[in-house]
Amino acid sequence: MNAPLPYRFDDPARAIAITQADLPAPWINYLSNGNLHAFVSQTGAGCLWWKSPINFRLTRYRGWTSPVDGPGFTLYIREPDGSAWCPTVHPTRLPLDSWEARHAPGRTTFTARRGDLSVELTLFIAPDTDTMVWDVALTNHGKTTRTVDLFGYVELVLLEWPHEPQWGYYTRNMFHTWYAPEAAAQLYLWHHQGHPRLADIPLVYFASTEEPASWSGDRQSFLGYNRGEDRPQALERNRCGNGSLWCGDPCAALQIQPTLAPDETKSLAFFLGCQPRAMGDFTAAKAALPGALDALRQPGWVAAQRAKLDAWWSEHFAAADFCLPDADLQRQISTWSPVNSVHAGRYSRSFSQFASGIRGFGYRDTAQDMLAQAARRPEWARAEFKRLLAHQFEDGHAVHTYFPEDKQAPWRTIHSDDHLWLPLLAHQLAAETGDRALFSENVPYLAADGMSAGPEATVWEHLIAATEFTESKLGAHGIPLTLHSDWNDCIGRFARKGKGQSVFAAQQYVLCLRLLIELATWLGDTAAAAKLQTRLTAQETALNTRCWDGEWWVRGFDDEGLPMGSKHRKHGQIWLNSQSWSVLSVVGSRQQHLSAMDAVHRILNTERGIKKIHPSFPTYPDDMDAFVGYSLGCAENGAIFCHANTWAVIAEALLGRADRAWQYFRQLVPHLALQRAGLDRYQGEPYAWASLVTGPENPRFGWANVTHVTGTAAWMDLAATQYLLGIRPELECLRIAPVLPADWPGFTATRRFRGCQLEIDVRRSHPGERPGLSLDGQPLHGDRVPATALDGKPAATVQLILPA
Ligand code: NOJ
Repeated sequence: MNAPLPYRFDDPARAIAITQADLPAPWINYLSNGNLHAFVSQTGAGCLWWKSPINFRLTRYRGWTSPVDGPGFTLYIREPDGSAWCPTVHPTRLPLDSWEARHAPGRTTFTARRGDLSVELTLFIAPDTDTMVWDVALTNHGKTTRTVDLFGYVELVLLEWPHEPQWGYYTRNMFHTWYAPEAAAQLYLWHHQGHPRLADIPLVYFASTEEPASWSGDRQSFLGYNRGEDRPQALERNRCGNGSLWCGDPCAALQIQPTLAPDETKSLAFFLGCQPRAMGDFTAAKAALPGALDALRQPGWVAAQRAKLDAWWSEHFAAADFCLPDADLQRQISTWSPVNSVHAGRYSRSFSQFASGIRGFGYRDTAQDMLAQAARRPEWARAEFKRLLAHQFEDGHAVHTYFPEDKQAPWRTIHSDDHLWLPLLAHQLAAETGDRALFSENVPYLAADGMSAGPEATVWEHLIAATEFTESKLGAHGIPLTLHSDWNDCIGRFARKGKGQSVFAAQQYVLCLRLLIELATWLGDTAAAAKLQTRLTAQETALNTRCWDGEWWVRGFDDEGLPMGSKHRKHGQIWLNSQSWSVLSVVGSRQQHLSAMDAVHRILNTERGIKKIHPSFPTYPDDMDAFVGYSLGCAENGAIFCHANTWAVIAEALLGRADRAWQYFRQLVPHLALQRAGLDRYQGEPYAWASLVTGPENPRFGWANVTHVTGTAAWMDLAATQYLLGIRPELECLRIAPVLPADWPGFTATRRFRGCQLEIDVRRSHPGERPGLSLDGQPLHGDRVPATALDGKPAATVQLILPA
């Protein structure tokens, strides 16, 4: 019999309750107000950073050394006998009488009881100010009044995180921690003169609603010599140590001593936050702090902030919500995919329990993440789109990564795909909002120095420039050169001499051209439409005449002109992307699409997802000129690359093969995948999409790795809502074209579109009933609700009756 799962979903609350602290991996949640961010695991471990995890990392997180997943946001409860426990179980690990960790969008709650005391600790970031709230409710179940010794503790870091291993031995002499009685707060000021945004460095504070009995900014004095967070000396002596530091190892600790009558529940809070521009104007920041903290301590403030946070998420879900006849899919599609899409959108591929934050934001990655936000948060997607345009060079190509909050040089290798994600996002935004004005707004290009603003051009000109760049980099077969890589980070291995060509980039280019032609027509630019059509025809011809291998599409051509992804090669005979993207880009005949996608099913699909390539390439020492160095079944070398699986879902949906499309979706739904592989094998969160699942050529087949910060999130969100459930915005309409599993009677949805709140009902016809689409009871032609029919309507009902 299978072991019981260490979690349960609370779907009405859109939450997951985790019931076992020691899991094979940290299961994290992100907390954020868009400025101050944290992630926190089921044991309260995590990291807090302000704006950027590179230059303003505030607390320590150990992701790689054992024990992984620590330290974090620690609340110690000291018993009168000197023992200590935590509502997060870790780091003390003292057994508790009851315990649960609950992740909900934007907040995590720990509920624990030991003896006569129960504690509820909720962590969230206040929407209105840059502070992390530790919202605590204590209940005394005993028969006598008791005073509880509570210690809040965090390990602070030298803000410039990548700098620390290199220069920390000097820069750990460049900060100050002290207790400020006028603010009743423990403070931390980092003042390394070389900081790239010196004036912006904030004053970090740790404060409470209660008057502290003791405090410390000195980690060594709080923990004791060579101790971990599991048994701090401060708890043995029942005093923090009241230490300040001008050098060494910083922390922030406060002891408070609330008294509780029998059966009394007492609410209190800690605040871990930032007072801005402390290095810009220290006197002003320090003077403002007592008043700022007083505001947080006002009765009702914590509850109001929590309500505001919840309201943000409710609004987010209300933009598109679904009621489906399958609870596991319903939960993933309505709650956890949208949650995950926000996190991936906020952090791109930069920071999580697995990712260090050092690579910054991926250009292609943000462009794809924002495809999902166009539906729920079009203003956010629009702003990011314009930021991406501002990181495009005048010749049309773009940087590869960038740092939205820091003045750091972007990564500038030239890839065949980065700039080609822009037309997809532009089209998605236009389809969602109907906003033509966007295309005539001016945005500067990035100047040749890669840092400053260059000449301005309209959004439309930027998009055309992207096609010009690709046109200028076509290879011998008339399709785009691979350049440093296409979407696949490692494909450049076949193009080191600069001659390799990418079929994926060609297919992506074809889709871009189709979307741009639609936009050109919509915007009335017929000359552009004609020019783009010529380019499109040339690409289609090249793909159709040079890139079909007999049963499937090749993946590209190497420097020698030999096809990759062909039956005639020993390894990597078939690659997933060129099959799925032939359908997405509509290149080739339906018969070719079916043949290619059947080959995917036959050769690449496994019960745990679709492999990216087959067979995988041997690596060192078997092959000293290995494809990428990844072991068999790992990452680009034959893993189940979940991001690429999303396009197979979409392809099958577009082909109308509902059962296969849903099969591909279901087999990666984290909760279902975990159950199928087993917890010990899968290991990842049952609510967050993974980037990778190790492939069958590897003994660790089924291991989910790199969760949350992955392109899987946005694309699975889109695959489910726009292709499986089929509610897809187009330039002039909302299309309702679901492909449903055979045993589904239908589903209902609510969807905001062009200012109108739609109640959508999809069901199969009753005997004698005519299938069709209707708006407010009026029949419509085809599967489209015209945008004009919604003009001025705040709400409407849409019904789609499918053939039984
Ligand atoms: C992960 C990278 O973050 C992403 O940019 C890339 O497209 C995929 N790997 C595929 O290689």
